[in-house]
Amino acid sequence: MIQVKRRLDYQPPAFSIPKISLTFELADQVTTVRSTLSVEKFDDSPLILDGTDLELAAIMVDGTPWQDYSVDEQHLTLRQLPRRCEIAVHTRLYPEKNTALEGLYQSGGSYCTQCEAEGFRRITYFPDRPDVLASYTVRIEADKTRYPNLLSNGNCVERGELEEGRHYVVWHDPFNKPCYLFALVAGQFDVLRGNYTTSSGREVQLEFYVDEGNLHKAEFALQSLQRAMRWDEDVYGLEYDLDVYMVVAVDFFNMGAMENKGLNVFNAKYVLADADSATDTDYFNIESIIAHEYFHNWTGNRVTCRDWFQLSLKEGLTVFRDQQFSADMSSPALCRVQQAKVIREQQFAEDASPMAHPIRPDEVIEMNNFYTVTVYDKGAEVIRMLFKMLGKDGFRKGMDKYFSRHDGQAVTCDDFVQAMADANHRDLTLFKRWYSQSGTPQVSIEQRYDPERKKLYLDISQHTPATMDQASKRPLLIPIEISALDEEGHPVLLDSRKSLVLELEQKQQSYVLSCEQPFALNVLRDFSAPIKLRFSQTAQQRLHIALYSDDGFSRVDAMQGLYQEAMIRCANESSGQWDSNRAQSLIDAQRVLLNSDETDLALLAEMLSLPSFETLMQLEERIDVDALMRARDGLEPLLACANEPLWLRRFESIPQTDYQYEPLQVAARKLKNHCLLQMMNANPQQYAEACKAQYQQANNMTDTLGALKAAQNTSETLFDELMQQFEQRWHHAPTVMDKWFALHAGAKRKDILSRIDLLQDHAVFSWKNPNRVRALVGTFGFYNPHGLYAEDGSGVRWLTEQLIQIDKINPQVSARLVTPLLSLTKLDDKRQLQWRHELMRLADQPTLSVDLSEKVHKALN
Ligand code: ARG
Ligand code: ZN
Repeated sequence: MIQVKRRLDYQPPAFSIPKISLTFELADQVTTVRSTLSVEKFDDSPLILDGTDLELAAIMVDGTPWQDYSVDEQHLTLRQLPRRCEIAVHTRLYPEKNTALEGLYQSGGSYCTQCEAEGFRRITYFPDRPDVLASYTVRIEADKTRYPNLLSNGNCVERGELEEGRHYVVWHDPFNKPCYLFALVAGQFDVLRGNYTTSSGREVQLEFYVDEGNLHKAEFALQSLQRAMRWDEDVYGLEYDLDVYMVVAVDFFNMGAMENKGLNVFNAKYVLADADSATDTDYFNIESIIAHEYFHNWTGNRVTCRDWFQLSLKEGLTVFRDQQFSADMSSPALCRVQQAKVIREQQFAEDASPMAHPIRPDEVIEMNNFYTVTVYDKGAEVIRMLFKMLGKDGFRKGMDKYFSRHDGQAVTCDDFVQAMADANHRDLTLFKRWYSQSGTPQVSIEQRYDPERKKLYLDISQHTPATMDQASKRPLLIPIEISALDEEGHPVLLDSRKSLVLELEQKQQSYVLSCEQPFALNVLRDFSAPIKLRFSQTAQQRLHIALYSDDGFSRVDAMQGLYQEAMIRCANESSGQWDSNRAQSLIDAQRVLLNSDETDLALLAEMLSLPSFETLMQLEERIDVDALMRARDGLEPLLACANEPLWLRRFESIPQTDYQYEPLQVAARKLKNHCLLQMMNANPQQYAEACKAQYQQANNMTDTLGALKAAQNTSETLFDELMQQFEQRWHHAPTVMDKWFALHAGAKRKDILSRIDLLQDHAVFSWKNPNRVRALVGTFGFYNPHGLYAEDGSGVRWLTEQLIQIDKINPQVSARLVTPLLSLTKLDDKRQLQWRHELMRLADQPTLSVDLSEKVHKALN
């Protein structure tokens, strides 16, 4: 039975559970959980506890067996309880059979848990909602040789020996917490230890639990954690609050990581790295996710969510904080470029899909389906707009107020905005619409300059198209940051300021700014709002911004606009065929950039890269997929050939050095690998040797992958040869092999489906491991447009068949990988029919998970 939960139906609990104590007896096959709850009821209604797939063994109230209860698939209901009592519930679980990786499960030889959002109910009967905060004492018993490390939240308060080679450990967490932050880990790990002294002098032990033999690979994560701890003190005055901070790396994990109090559980790929096996991007992700989970200790754990509709309260805010941190640690401009890409490529796609929802959803069937790019990344953009409008100091004041008001509480998004408003004496009522309205606002700007009066007139209008979840939309408060350049590329002052933030509030607004004649306007600087902008500019003006803007994001964005416009026009007007005329302004612009003395090589690489096919898909309401694909595929070699000697010269100008993960090197590698790709695009025969040489001589994974990517779609023979070598070298390392699976799955090849079918029988592949499945099936679905959109429908059919299999094993994974199937309304009629047919096939499955079925049914409506 499918049940919709609604935000407005929220009722506070009619009881409190100040204390819970849990005993886990871990044994082969079956785990016994004994839970004791101290309950205080506020009225005489029955106590309803959540529980899913649990085997109930006993119930006692105040020490005596209790009869007045009932159980169904999802609840345990206790009646006639005294107002104050102690309830003991014993249950049995089977973690080895848990392939959904929610609740208590096994990863490799270890036990671990994932409780957010509603996994605790798979461990014991409990009110599984984030507004019930309790103090936890946890005792774990297990075989001592196989499970020497027994971990839970808080501080270790007792340990000892038991009979038959078993031992036990008791943990107590001094901070009250919701059950989604509970964690337990049992296994045999190597431990990398470090420490940290907080600004007030508290000593904290830092411990990284990794599979044996991997200690050295956790060094970077440990250092990242130390940097994050320092940063949160420096920037927000926030200190860590326990004596120990533990991170466990596991191979089987549904997402990136989880911020359980004092005991983070991580997908191993976001902890372990060394130069040989990890790319620059892997290092970046590790640093940012380690920081993200650490920052949750305040934004998420100390102040948590009242209900799951408020998820963005902690996720949007924490993503914003990890983005700020990453910008401080690396290149702020590059970070911003990547963040805008995620919004434009993935979040805009979600807005255009049947899963469209506001950052604070109103209706949810399966909560796991709402850990989305909208809640997380658009949520972070909403926080960023507040930051932009209130300024750094104003924002900090708001944060201080938020913590002083709400520490230890479970609160709402409104509470957060209210703290910001009160601390800054500002009315943020209109701004709050960002929380309740879904969709991508479209903003149009018309400009006119009056040289006599020296006035710039701007007419700005906004419109948010209907989304599948909401028909009518209202105007939003949209901050638009703007500046101007003169013909020499110098800034032109606007109202005597170098840049302005216009706060658009109405459907239509006009602005008059005084300024000297501008040559080009630089609008939506810093991607100041998550919107689509319509603003017409000449190629010359765009190149001018690319060359002279002081905002890195705008420079890249100007070039992206140039490419986009050309490709869309080519697709619409000549069905994707290029003539040399049409590409000329792009070729010229690239030549200027390649010849420039630009010192930020990462930005240069970004300015020289075409927008992804996935980003292009989001530009218009309906897309001629074939024409657009032709346009993009045709443009790449054309641009590559036109400036071939320049790509080569740039490539040769960047020598290999001893590997270090640091911004200058990262930038140089990025440009070098982009140049190699262009060389191969221009002339694969001629540059095959260079590509191979780079592969063979690479001293780091970024360059190794750079060579493979350059060969991937330009030379099948070289690609196959290098991929074989890669497999020989890395077949013992599954996480590294994920890169190999992904390269195969993303390749543009006629026989792609039979190739990826074969890979499923590869010794390293496993349907039960989400990383493997995402690498193979996910890469195909998300990033292989030629495969997915194949005319005969074979691509979607293949994807559907995989989803049917995956759904039986792990619904969270299948529900994520179905995403490309949901966006059918943009497609031509023939493909819409194919897509629909496959969705119907999914809907007809007798045992479809709730996760997958929520999405499939929305798409079919
Ligand atoms: N809170 C975690 C994080 O973002 C993610 C948990 C995701 N849970 C899920 N069921 N998808 O740090
Ligand atoms: Zn998070």
